[in-house]
Parts: sequence; structure tokens; C-alpha cells
Amino acid sequence: MHTSASDRVPAHVAIVMDGNGRWARRRWLPRVAGHKQGVEALRQVVRACLERHIPVLTVFAFSSENWSRPADEVSGLMELLSLALQREVPSLLDNGVRLHFPGDRAGLSARVVQGLEAAEERTAHNQRLVLNVCFNYGGRWDIVQAARQLAERGVEITEDSLSSAMALSHVPDPDLLIRTGGETRISNFLLWQSAYTEFVFTDTLWPDFDAAALDRALAEFAQRERRFGKTSEQLTDAPASAVADTRLHA
Ligand code: IPE
Ligand code: IPE
Ligand code: MG
Repeated sequence: MHTSASDRVPAHVAIVMDGNGRWARRRWLPRVAGHKQGVEALRQVVRACLERHIPVLTVFAFSSENWSRPADEVSGLMELLSLALQREVPSLLDNGVRLHFPGDRAGLSARVVQGLEAAEERTAHNQRLVLNVCFNYGGRWDIVQAARQLAERGVEITEDSLSSAMALSHVPDPDLLIRTGGETRISNFLLWQSAYTEFVFTDTLWPDFDAAALDRALAEFAQRERRFGKTSEQLTDAPASAVADTRLHA
């Protein structure tokens, strides 16, 4: 049971976009072809979030650990990011999408960083949808960089101060986290922010994920009871005395 109907529509959806490589391999294509198709899937899901009035979408595009992949795949992903920005920013601007790229800029080339910063600046005034594309991001990196910032500034470390120094401090914690591609792990995504996030895992490979697949995940989310440590009874709209009355008359 839920405290209000608005709890059933997530205000922040996060996605681990996994399965691009397998999608490509099944078609005898190079892995990068799967990543290209993954950009198409992301475009569709962004449109679906706009239509459904979901205000925040956060996607995992490149993890701190993805540097261990073959060099040609890593350079292909960097290239694809730059290309996707050139192609997609105009329509994101038209649709009121504000871009953020949470992640470690230090590991990225000057050209890539320039592209990310320009896209963030150009879309900074947009208000319909915040799209966080986590790139060279890791949950452990985020916790450490936030703690370091606070230590340098001499700020006391509390849950609030740490949250406010993290890479996603501009949005609330995710309500729903979807992982495509069949794996049921977090792979160093939003470790701190997903403390009370609902998880939905699907075997659908990311390039095949579309608005209908998103709707299935949203429907599953709507069925969940989010207790945040409380009991189920505490969450019912009826005051405790009314619940007791019902039981007496039953
Ligand atoms: C996710 O797809 C995209 C990135 C990690 C960059 P994968 O490339 O991990 O696809 P699979 O898991 O090998 O199928
Ligand atoms: C997680 O997928 C990272 C992204 C989707 C960007 P991986 O494919 O890298 O995760 P593991 O290695 O299977 O855990
Ligand atoms: Mg994978």
C-alpha cells in the first residue's frame, strides 16, 4: 500500500544500460555497433520519459572499470560520445532537456571534456527533464571525491554534507533503478544514492529496450511497497484507530 498516488510514478529513474556487446555479437557485428544502437535506445527512452513527465533520468554510459576493455572499444565509446553530443544536443535543446555528465573528468581527454562542458552549458536553462549521463563514473569514486572535497574545505562529514558534495547532488535519489541485459548486480553504479531505490532487472538487451519495456518497469515499480524501514501498517492512509475498528467489525 502507498501513502499517495504520486509515489507510484518515479520522480527519478536510473538505468544501467547493459547488453550492447551481446546484442552486436548475436548479429555478428562489432561490439561498437551495439553501442551505436544503444544510443538509439537512449533517444527513445528520453522521449518516453518526457511524454510520461518523469523529471529525472540517470543513465550509466561508461564506468570507472570500463577502461579495462580492449583499447579499440574504449576509443570507439569516446568517439561515439562526441558524435552523439553533436547529433543529439539540438533536439535535446528543443525538448527542454538539461544535460549533466556526472563522473571523473580527470581521466578523460581534453576534447571529450570540452564536449561535455559545452553540452552542459548549452542546455543549462532547460527544465523539463534532467538527463544525467554518468560517464567515467563509479559509485566508489563518487563517495571518495565527495569525502575529499569536504575534508579539504574542513567541513564535518555527515550524511547531508556528503550527499551535497556528490556528483548527483542536483537531483533527488533515484526511486527506480532498471538494469537491462540480464545481470543482477549494481556494478559500482549509484552506491550511495540507491540506499532505498527499487530495482527492476530485465533480460532485454539495452539496444532492444523501448517505451513498452520502460512501461513494464514502471508498472512493476507501481506495485512495490516502499517502507523505508517502517512497517506495512504504518504506511496505510487510515489512522491506527480506524484500522483497529475495521478489525473489530470484521
Ligand atoms: C553496456 O553494454 C555498455 C557499456 C558498458 C559501455 P556492454 O558493452 O557491457 O554489453 P555486454 O554486457 O557485453 O553485452
Ligand atoms: C555496467 O556494465 C556499466 C555500464 C552499463 C556503463 P558492465 O557491462 O561494465 O558491468 P559488468 O562488468 O558486467 O559488471
Ligand atoms: Mg555489460
